[in-house]
Amino acid sequence: MKQNQLIRIGNVVEADQCINYLINRPQAEMVGLGLLYGRPGLGKTTYAQRTAFQRGYIYLRLEAFTTAKTFSVKLLSTLYEYFDINDVIPSGTTENVFKLCMEILEDHPQTVIIIDEIDYAFNQPKLLGAIRDIVDETLVIVILVGMQTARDRLARLNEHYFDRCNAFVEFKPATKKDVRLIVEEIMDIPVTELMVTQIYQNCRGNLRKAIKMMYSMESNQKAATQTANVIDLEEAR
Ligand SMILES: Nc1ncnc2c1ncn2[C@@H]1O[C@H](COP(=O)(O)OP(=O)(O)OP(=O)(O)O)[C@@H](O)[C@H]1O
Ligand SMILES: [Mg+2]
Repeated sequence: MKQNQLIRIGNVVEADQCINYLINRPQAEMVGLGLLYGRPGLGKTTYAQRTAFQRGYIYLRLEAFTTAKTFSVKLLSTLYEYFDINDVIPSGTTENVFKLCMEILEDHPQTVIIIDEIDYAFNQPKLLGAIRDIVDETLVIVILVGMQTARDRLARLNEHYFDRCNAFVEFKPATKKDVRLIVEEIMDIPVTELMVTQIYQNCRGNLRKAIKMMYSMESNQKAATQTANVIDLEEAR
C-alpha cells in the first residue's frame, strides 16, 4: 500500500477551498480564522498534516496537557525553525514568549498555521485567547481542526470567537466515489468493483476503517499469491 498520500476526496477539495477563501479575503475587513471539524476517522488530521507539508504551512497539534505557556514555546520554536531564525527560546514569562511569536508573525503575514485537536483548548481561556490574538492582531491565517462538536462548543463558549470564524468545513463520511478514489490510488493490487463495494459498506464512511480493510485485503491477496506460487513450483518439479 502506498503511504503518505493525500487523495483529493470531497472533504479535501472543500478544505482547500476554505483555505483559498481565507487567503483571498479582504484582509482589512476579515480576520483569517477557519474551522475544520467532523467525526473520527474522516481525514481531518491527514488533510492538515499533508497539506501543511505540501504547501509549507505550519502544523501544530494540541495535546491533553498543552497550556498557553507550552503552546507559546512550541509555536516560537516552530517559527524559529521555519524561518531559520538562530535564537534560543527565552525562559521568560508566557507573555514574553508569546510577544516574540507575534513579532515574527507580524513580519510574515503570509503564514498559515493549522492547529489540530483544538478541543483541548476549549477549557483553557488563556490558550484560546492567545490563538484569538494571533488572528486579531496579525494577518496570519489560522485553521483550527476539531471534533464534530467543535463548532457548537466554540459558539457556546465564546460568541466573540465564533463571530471571527469566517470559514467552516464539516468533514463528512466518505462517499463511495471517495472510497473508490482512495482504493485505486493507494492499493498495490488490482482493484475490482466488488472490493470497492465491500470496503465502502463496511467502513461506513470512516477512512481509518477503510484503510485497515484495504491493508488486510492486500495482505490476504499477497499471501494467496505466494501460496499459489509455491504450489506451482512444487507441481513443476
Ligand atoms: N485524503 C486522504 N488521502 C489518503 N488517506 C487518507 C485521507 N484521509 C484520510 N486518510 C486515511 O484515513 C486515516 C484516518 O484519517 P485521520 O486520522 O486524518 O482522521 P481524523 O478525522 O483526524 O480522525 P480523528 O477525529 O479521530 O482525529 C488516516 O490515517 C489515513 O490513512
Ligand atoms: Mg485527527
